Amino acid sequence: MSDIIQGEGLTVFTNPRAAGPDEAYGETRSRILSATGFDSAQAAVRAWPGYRETPLHTLPGLARSLGLGALYCKDEGARFELGSFKALGGAYAVFRLLQKKIAEHHDGYLPGPAEILSGAYRDLIRTVTVTCATDGNHGRSVAWGAQMFGCRCVIFIHASVSEGRRAAIARYGAEVVRVPGNYDEAVRHAAAEAGRNGWTVVSDTTWEGYRDIPVDVMHGYGVMSREIIRQLPEPPTHVLVQAGVGALAASVCAAFWQAWGPERPRFVVVEPEQAACHFASARAGHPQPVHGDLETVMAGLACGEVSPAAWEILSAGANDFVTVADELALEGMRVLAHPRAGDPALVAGETGTSGLAVLLAARNSPRAAAALGLDASARVLLICSEGATDPEIYRRVVGMDATEVCP
Ligand SMILES: Cc1ncc(COP(=O)(O)O)c(C=O)c1O
Repeated sequence: MSDIIQGEGLTVFTNPRAAGPDEAYGETRSRILSATGFDSAQAAVRAWPGYRETPLHTLPGLARSLGLGALYCKDEGARFELGSFKALGGAYAVFRLLQKKIAEHHDGYLPGPAEILSGAYRDLIRTVTVTCATDGNHGRSVAWGAQMFGCRCVIFIHASVSEGRRAAIARYGAEVVRVPGNYDEAVRHAAAEAGRNGWTVVSDTTWEGYRDIPVDVMHGYGVMSREIIRQLPEPPTHVLVQAGVGALAASVCAAFWQAWGPERPRFVVVEPEQAACHFASARAGHPQPVHGDLETVMAGLACGEVSPAAWEILSAGANDFVTVADELALEGMRVLAHPRAGDPALVAGETGTSGLAVLLAARNSPRAAAALGLDASARVLLICSEGATDPEIYRRVVGMDATEVCP
């Protein structure tokens, strides 16, 4: 029987419903996230102006100090000009939406990114308004995509989204509207406003009757997973992925399962203690919301409800569900900014270091470390999902500007 292991700042639940290593990714899951869906996203995003792979760093010094065999860190702080993997998802879904709108008016013809960027469909695109709720990064991606391809954009943020994150969205020409309540309430608000005004919601979470666009978002994130697969010398033994609604984690899980099959890594889903809806759902055996203000420094993970489509992948694809304390994510930012000998200095925001936070907590929690198999044979992949996306918070936590850490 599976049980919960409590460590210092860390709680581990090993998933009793996890698929065995030999279970194929299979038809059913492919109906949500498919290899061809990842292929299309890869082809489109690589054609966008400014596309470059983000680096995958090897951190031998930190691996040694944590008693691990190897530590890899995918650094999404360098993703386009947005500083997070989110650039890949929301903007790709905007592209797909516009592509389909154009097809409706041009006998099913689906133009590529260069054709849309050429302005050939400008007048039609201008009639489209996209909208979503966001804790910051997703809205920034949707706004950036809307500006890049030329449609209108209205973004809803909830009460606790920082002023820095609001300004970062507005910079891309979107109208930004602050609404009371938490993230999940802002999601409902965006859907209601879209219905009233004839706008299209570009959400990263699915709900009853609304799935295609968030699936595009998840396929967009697959560009990152495909880069990792190409960059790693061999599959890692573990991957720790942070989850808000779970779109990122499900996308990574699907891409690795498709690519590596039985060799795929042990998949660990990481959440803040205050917003652990995947953890709660794994224990319940079905999607289970968590309530409250969901207040956490890991702002991107402040979600109380899993995305049902993501859950269909993670409920079997994740081996462990872990919650971690805020303080350890902040420590993770400082650890990466002050590297061990032989490691590069890295800039990561507070949501970006949640995976590292688990490794830091495991140092003082031998039972949790053993339950997760974090030992000298482990080759661990972390996703540093954002850079200093809020520079003011970064300076306060690390005591330096991001530009001083990585000049
Ligand atoms: C930097 C960062 N990392 C991870 C996540 C989690 O992604 P998801 O909500 O798809 O689980 C988010 C979500 O906003 C984010 O902004």
